[in-house]
Parts: sequence; structure tokens; C-alpha cells
Amino acid sequence: MKYLFGNWKMYLSNGDSLALAQDLHDVSAEGVTLAVFPNTLSFREVCQALSDSDISCGAQNVSWTPQGAYTGATSAHLFADSGATYALVGHSERRHVFGEGNEVIRKRLDACIAEGLTPVLCIGETAEDREQNKAEYRIKKQLMKALEGLESAPKQLFVAYEPVWAIGTGDACDPEEAVRMIELIKAEITQYIDTEVAVLYGGSVNSENMVSYVSHEAVDGVLVGRASTDAQSYRDMIDACKHI
Ligand code: PGA
Repeated sequence: MKYLFGNWKMYLSNGDSLALAQDLHDVSAEGVTLAVFPNTLSFREVCQALSDSDISCGAQNVSWTPQGAYTGATSAHLFADSGATYALVGHSERRHVFGEGNEVIRKRLDACIAEGLTPVLCIGETAEDREQNKAEYRIKKQLMKALEGLESAPKQLFVAYEPVWAIGTGDACDPEEAVRMIELIKAEITQYIDTEVAVLYGGSVNSENMVSYVSHEAVDGVLVGRASTDAQSYRDMIDACKHI
């Protein structure tokens, strides 16, 4: 089983999000697990459009409080109530553009677990970390801060290994190196939880290079940004997954 998750980020208008969902409605997953992560405003509409399809929906980011005086926030509860199955937690853009630290990310993870959303915990080192030989240190620390002493374990957990320098740059991680990091992540996680964990690679994945990642047994799938916002390219990736 491979996973093909599409993070639409803030690339699409509400109309374009719905049109893409309608376009993808009839795709047949056949052994590939599919999900898309639309923007918050189009979330309900996209979920409804895909409700009887092979594609699930996930939130790009959730607030940790269920409800109350939190201006501008959208809770895990609201996403769950709107049809979400998954939620990204700690995406690199949240960490590095919006300055979110490990503590906030842990709270978001806890909120997802409490609401029954399957978390997709995103981790990855910066270019600077890599230059300083700190890539493994960074990953281990992010995992520890997110997973150590969890009060209740999620039924299922995804981790997306997304090196920051590979996201949106066209400079995808060498597949052998991604496999090495993913194997390290899998080994590391066993000390925190015994839940089933699938580890995805993300960072400049497209229909041309996707197979070079998912053909490795250790790589359970991919988290795709830009290339997932085009219907034909998403379909090509689904087809490529089916032929592995
Ligand atoms: P990208 O984004 O595929 O556009 O590099 C991946 C991600 O941020 O999840």
C-alpha cells in the first residue's frame, strides 16, 4: 500500500479547489491511498465534492483548542466536523514561515489525536542543519518533542520527511538519502509509540521523479505540494503508484 497525499497549500482559489476536486472525483485508487489538503475556506465544499470518491481530505493546520475565544483559529474539532480524515502537523512552512516551535506543534498533534484525526507529522532539516552535519540530530529532536510521553497514542500516524531545502525548490532529495533518513525515522519512532507508522517523503516530488521514491520498500508514499494541484499530474502520479 502506497500513500499519495496532495498538499494544495494556498495555491488555488476556492473555485479552482472545487473544480480540481470535481475533476478528480472519479479517479480509482486501486491500492493507493489518496488524500488532498485544501485551503480552509474551500475545505467543506471540497470534502463534500469528494465524499463518495476514493480521495479523503485533510486539514493543512489545526488549532489545538476545540472552541472558544480564539480569533482567527480553526480547531481540529471543526475540521473533523467538516469531514477531515487527516491533518498536517508541523509542516515546514508553519515552522519556518510562521515561526511555530516544537511546543505548539505538540499541542496541535494532541488536538488531532483527541479529535480522531490522523496526524501527518512533518519533520525535516534545513540546508544549514545539513551543512553542519546536524540533519539526523534535527530529525531526532523533532520526533522526540512531538512524540515523547504522548498521553494517548493515535490509532495511526504518518510522518512526512520533508527536508526544508527540498520543498518548492525543484531540488528534490536524492532518493537513496531519503530512504536512509526514512529508515532512521522508523527506527527512532519505535522508542516512543507502538502505533502503526507510515513514513512519506516530500519535497519537489512530481510525476517524473515520484517512482524513484515510492519504489523503495521503506518509503510508504509521498506528500506532494505544487505538482498535486494539477489534475493531470496527480492522475499520472496515481497511475505510476499502481504500477510499482
Ligand atoms: P512541494 O511541496 O512538492 O511543492 O515541494 C511539498 C510540501 O510542502 O509538502
